Amino acid sequence: MDHFLYRDGALYAEDVPIAEIAAAVGTPFYVYSTATLLRHFKVLDDALAGMDHLVCYAMKAASNQAILKTLAQAGAGMDVVSGGEYLRAKAAGVPGDKIVFSGVGKTADEIRMALTGGIRQFNVESEPEMEVLNRVAGEVGVIAPITIRVNPDVDAKTHAKIATGKSENKFGIPIARARDVYAMAAAMEHLEVIGIDVHIGSQLTDLAPYELAYQKVAELTETLRADGHTIRRLDLGGGLGIPYARSNEAPPLPSDYGKLVERTVGHLGCEIEIEPGRLIAGNAGCMVSEVIYVKSGEGRDFLILDGAMNDLIRPAMYEAHHDIVPVIEPAPGIEQVPYDIVGPVCESGDTFAKQRMMPPLNAGDLVAFRSAGAYGAVMSSEYNTRPLIPEVLVKGDQYAVIRQRPTFEEMINRDSIPEWL
Ligand code: LLP
Repeated sequence: MDHFLYRDGALYAEDVPIAEIAAAVGTPFYVYSTATLLRHFKVLDDALAGMDHLVCYAMKAASNQAILKTLAQAGAGMDVVSGGEYLRAKAAGVPGDKIVFSGVGKTADEIRMALTGGIRQFNVESEPEMEVLNRVAGEVGVIAPITIRVNPDVDAKTHAKIATGKSENKFGIPIARARDVYAMAAAMEHLEVIGIDVHIGSQLTDLAPYELAYQKVAELTETLRADGHTIRRLDLGGGLGIPYARSNEAPPLPSDYGKLVERTVGHLGCEIEIEPGRLIAGNAGCMVSEVIYVKSGEGRDFLILDGAMNDLIRPAMYEAHHDIVPVIEPAPGIEQVPYDIVGPVCESGDTFAKQRMMPPLNAGDLVAFRSAGAYGAVMSSEYNTRPLIPEVLVKGDQYAVIRQRPTFEEMINRDSIPEWL
């Protein structure tokens, strides 16, 4: 459920007409709904209510300070994967003891930053990382709390580019080597082993791979405890899928996921962490764009938008489907026509949808890309010297620009010319 609905013939974000924001801010832009962000956070939080738990929002999905602050005020922790994300979380007021540091390539500088500023735990992904962490913790004079990310070799049945739990993926340590690696960690002076971490992929639309992975984690917990390790926290990762095509998709319910967690690892008495990104932010955001031209091609019509692959790369990168809806509600029963929906960037890959059925549209009409709140703005670039597009946050009948569109001058002045030129 989200808060982007038609009302009186026009698309609203909560109580604000999207066309009103477009008139004030210009297109293209991202718009997020506070009520949707909070609703999704609460649905997950409630799904784990029977267990001691913390929902750590995977802020890579959408990391604007205003979004982080909204979730932090609701009680969310954060999952970060870089020094930059760590500083963003801190700047949004998240205390260190609610920040989890994930990622396969944490540098010594990033580790030092988190150890100095405070951290809930590091999710360690390799032996060499463990050695660096132990050394830096010794230098800083603290004990680093860690879980070790295990790779359970489970097929998440999602897009290959976002599956992470198979043995050929770069993530985690093979579960078969876990006992050795835990023994190595326990012997390190400046580390404290507190638990296990697992994350098998993103946009999972089937709960079966979770069941398999979490059963393996439960078995490993018993084994490691028998080896003498304290396993008191399980980080179960993120990845729950969302509906992208509202017409025909029904991904798992968070409540069923909660029951699965309880069933597979609930008996272990561990504190549970999850790291959802997409489920919280995905359907809480839209990208709004204007039709620049309707162009008749050979046997097909193109809708050329002012938004492009640099603003929303998911269709080009993962062949991802986003529902694209007109901001003016189509009259009931209006005959739909097929369009290839494209951006202005000079690549054929700059195609959002092929032969998508839409009501007839004209230059100047606005469209909204649904489900663009996660991995939208954060993955955008300035390719073709197109400015990063603004982000707007709505709350009830109020809205605010939470990231400005840069001016061309600002963009150009970020470059510097060597003295020999
Ligand atoms: N935890 C870890 C360790 C992760 O690597 C990820 C996502 C998450 C949590 C959050 O997963 P989520 O709940 O959002 O599925 N750019 C791609 C998705 C990449 C996901 C990367 N890792 C996309 O647009 O589909």
